[in-house]
Amino acid sequence: MSNSIQEIKKEVEGFVVSSETELETFRMRFISRKSVIGELFGNMKSVPAEERKAYGQDVNALKDLAEARFQFHIDNLKSGSKKVENHADLTLPPIEDHFGSIHPLTATRQRFIEIFERIGFNVSSGPEIEGDWYNFTALNFPENHPAREMQDTFFIEKNPDIALRTHTSSVQIRVMENEKPPIRTLSPGRVFRNEAISARAHCVFHQMEGLYIDKGVSFADLKQTLYHFAKEMYTKDTQVRFRPSYFPFTEPSAEIDISCQICHGEGCNICKYSGWVEIGGAGMVDPNVLENCGIDSTIYSGFAFGMGIERITMLRYGIKDLRLFTENDIRFLKQFSSL
Ligand code: DAH
Repeated sequence: MSNSIQEIKKEVEGFVVSSETELETFRMRFISRKSVIGELFGNMKSVPAEERKAYGQDVNALKDLAEARFQFHIDNLKSGSKKVENHADLTLPPIEDHFGSIHPLTATRQRFIEIFERIGFNVSSGPEIEGDWYNFTALNFPENHPAREMQDTFFIEKNPDIALRTHTSSVQIRVMENEKPPIRTLSPGRVFRNEAISARAHCVFHQMEGLYIDKGVSFADLKQTLYHFAKEMYTKDTQVRFRPSYFPFTEPSAEIDISCQICHGEGCNICKYSGWVEIGGAGMVDPNVLENCGIDSTIYSGFAFGMGIERITMLRYGIKDLRLFTENDIRFLKQFSSL
């Protein structure tokens, strides 16, 4: 078989056809009368008589191959376009996409962290199932202390006690045990209390704990930090009020109220017509707590706070029922799709 027949055969076999244009190129090159194969037929006369028969057979075989490949490419293209015809009806209406969006509680948590990251806080976390030490004892709730009854707890095991954490204050202990001051940290997370579910309470909810330990930290720092937070989270004219309170792990302790974001002081059922809404508790970390974590309370002091993320979110968006957060009602969630 002559060289050129061999070469053309290879070319026919390797030729890729994936469009009508390429099919036409194939036809022109190998099938039409003026094709390279047509030329080979034209050369027949100049082939010496004794080789002519073999030459003729080779060229004919090549012609058959080219025609078979041509038919193959035609069929291939057809079945490809058939697929398109079957699957893409361009007259159909578009399929609506159902992308999820950020949950309002997540948006509040992210905004919270953003505000505090700018003033040097990092983020820490701890387990949702806690031992007695982290949830109570290290936080200055001595055994049998009446404060332990302040929170109805889901105990998983008794003696030794293991429980679903009732607050994120447990993370304060974990951080202070592992890090040296200065400490500036936020600990967001889920907490659990044995409470009846209502518009204002749930047995599973979220808190944001804050902790700042350094030399010379005072109550003034706590107040200034929370003023800053309230104005950043809500509006510049948001007011903050501290009410004296009691927590075993802080001394002095306070409840933090902000001016009602729903009625702006006019009076509504969210603020119970007082113009103020409680968003959490705060105080100066009790020296006993510092000592429990191996921090010298004669050198260091600090403040802590714990806030309810649900409550803060409800005030932020005017949500009146806390159960909406976990009911997975698309009509509710869709209202936050721009977050
Ligand atoms: N752990 C408290 C609670 O769940 C909230 C709290 C109050 C946290 C005062 C604090 C704090 O860090 O200083 O009710």
